[in-house]
Amino acid sequence: MSTPAAGACERVPAGPGGDAAWLRERMLPELPQAMSEHIDRVVALAREFAALHALPEARVSLAGQGHDLLRAVPPQELLRRAERRGLPLLDVERERPVVLHGVLGALELSERFGVSDRGVLDAVRWHTTGHPTYPDWAWAMFVADKVEPAKAEKWPALREVEAEARRPRPGALRDAAARYLRLSLARQREQGEPVHPVAVETLSVLEGAVGSGPPP
Ligand SMILES: [Fe+2]
Ligand SMILES: [Fe+2]
Repeated sequence: MSTPAAGACERVPAGPGGDAAWLRERMLPELPQAMSEHIDRVVALAREFAALHALPEARVSLAGQGHDLLRAVPPQELLRRAERRGLPLLDVERERPVVLHGVLGALELSERFGVSDRGVLDAVRWHTTGHPTYPDWAWAMFVADKVEPAKAEKWPALREVEAEARRPRPGALRDAAARYLRLSLARQREQGEPVHPVAVETLSVLEGAVGSGPPP
């Protein structure tokens, strides 16, 4: 039997089929109330997007439920956990270790809660930046996380991202994600914060700037 990862609690037995409600019950004792309320709002909105765009609600819900397992862990503790695991770290991740809650959260969801759906774990891993390989259902979780009502209250520009996501047409969630990433990256640059290269690459792919080649 392997030794639990440093900083992690004991493993919780796997739930029946990776069910979001099962996971919620087991995460609750670990989370500050404000964090569990954020997660509840994300799951509810992500499920709305899933229904609207005919996406797999079970996977959307499970990813939404698990995405912020470690969001309330202090940044320096996240950095310590990443270093103990020997994860390769980018400069931006050392400067802003909060972004590590995605990758570490995915690992702990697998190790401690028995989440085994690789797509769900990847969706959690990349939820702070998005990822060029995200399927549409992962974008439903990503956009819901960014525009849930408490966040839109503080940053009204997010309402346009949500409106985009609700358009009943193919590609709406990807367009909404691109709109969000443009807003977010512009704000980070204005504020002199380091930007994550995966977010930049993801936006390029969403905008069709990568792989399209020069015009004929
Ligand atoms: Fe998060
Ligand atoms: Fe979140």
